[in-house]
Amino acid sequence: MKTRILTGITTTGTPHLGNYAGAIMPAIEASQGVAAESFFFLADYHALIKCDDASRIEQSRMEVAATWLAAGLDPERVTFYRQSDIPEITELTWLLTCVSAKGFLNRSHAYKAAVDKNTGAGQDADAGISMGLFSYPVLMAADILLFNAHKVPVGRDQIQHVEMAKDIGQRFNNAYGNGVPVFVLPEAVVDERVATLPGLDGRKMSKSYDNTIPLFTSSRLLKEAIGQIVTDSLLPGEPKDPDSSALYSLYQAFSTPAQALAYRADLLQGLGWGEAKKRLYELLNSQIEPMREHYSRLLANPSDLEDILQHGAHKARSVARPLMAQLRDAVGLRSFNAFVPKAQEAVRKVASEPEFVSYREDGAFYFKLVGDKGSALLVSTPFATGKEMGAALARVKAGQQIVLQQESNCPVVYCAGELVAQGEPFLDEAQAQQVMDTLGKSLGGKQTLLESDNGCGL
Ligand code: TRP
Repeated sequence: MKTRILTGITTTGTPHLGNYAGAIMPAIEASQGVAAESFFFLADYHALIKCDDASRIEQSRMEVAATWLAAGLDPERVTFYRQSDIPEITELTWLLTCVSAKGFLNRSHAYKAAVDKNTGAGQDADAGISMGLFSYPVLMAADILLFNAHKVPVGRDQIQHVEMAKDIGQRFNNAYGNGVPVFVLPEAVVDERVATLPGLDGRKMSKSYDNTIPLFTSSRLLKEAIGQIVTDSLLPGEPKDPDSSALYSLYQAFSTPAQALAYRADLLQGLGWGEAKKRLYELLNSQIEPMREHYSRLLANPSDLEDILQHGAHKARSVARPLMAQLRDAVGLRSFNAFVPKAQEAVRKVASEPEFVSYREDGAFYFKLVGDKGSALLVSTPFATGKEMGAALARVKAGQQIVLQQESNCPVVYCAGELVAQGEPFLDEAQAQQVMDTLGKSLGGKQTLLESDNGCGL
């Protein structure tokens, strides 16, 4: 099986440069490898946790979809879909909710941060916190586990949530797996190189700091935004420190190593900030320009976007549906038509391989060989003690001094010359052959098999 890579993008805003360099670009690059099978989706259910403005949600979903496609995502190669188009995700969320301990979810960063904020403000710990926010990691676990993802590329802030998905998957496997794991346990993957792209003020570029550079604005607005990046007040000609410069970090994230080296050397030799910004703008704009056109075209044709995402949903559901059916069965949500009474269930288990069972009846000890459909292929003679019965059974199983033969139209087994077990009369020759064959295999294969004796006619 190929390595499955899966990641989700919460659709609450307009993608910015930080999203592009930190998530979109590396994910698309990874999806181009032949050894990988990628699932990328719009986490629009997660968006509802943070945003109750319906038109903003609507707009953001389209913008995020158009961004990924314009950035080079190939919807034929990658499974690209909206979370809310996959009903199996919400269905699985409930099954996972039922194996997730509340105390464990109390520790989720997203929830804890909200609690800390409340207590810091002297408010009730849970003020304004929805169950959506509280259960955020369970929904995320369903996103990941439903597709049996191996690797989940995320930002640092999401590592804990992927770990929680792994933990929840493990709990489910333990509860329902019967020794066979149902879910693949995922690993978070963080790209160290791009994880800390700085924003306009030098802090991590993030919508919550209001310091982002939009990805697909006009070239004029891109230039203006770059002009606002904070620098120190060193003059042209004075050496600059590239390692404390947001310009250098941004440049490096989009350039080749050789370009970055040249930029670095020029800063050290006193390149002016104005010139440094101009060069950053030129680098970024040359990469964004061709995508910008594609992006605008996609946004102008929402029904094309819709078709692409419906196609993705179709592909995703063809993976999700069979797994979900298996999960429903695992937890006992089955059709009544498939109901098997408890007693027969035990029989079903021995359907293919005959099995020896020992039992006690009217004070005596017996063993029998139970075959297909629960019928007794052989029943032992009575033994006075469990120990004697056990010893005889062991010899029968090992084929030790055992003779199997067909007698009076029945299978009989002798152990050291004594009759120890016999079976039901055969129905016809074909069935006799089949039963004798099965018995031969079940008796350790070392017994002497005698063909029908005299006078036992079929
Ligand atoms: N919570 C993630 C974020 O805000 C987005 C997300 C939702 C996600 N489901 C996911 C990421 C599953 C990876 C896998 O960044």
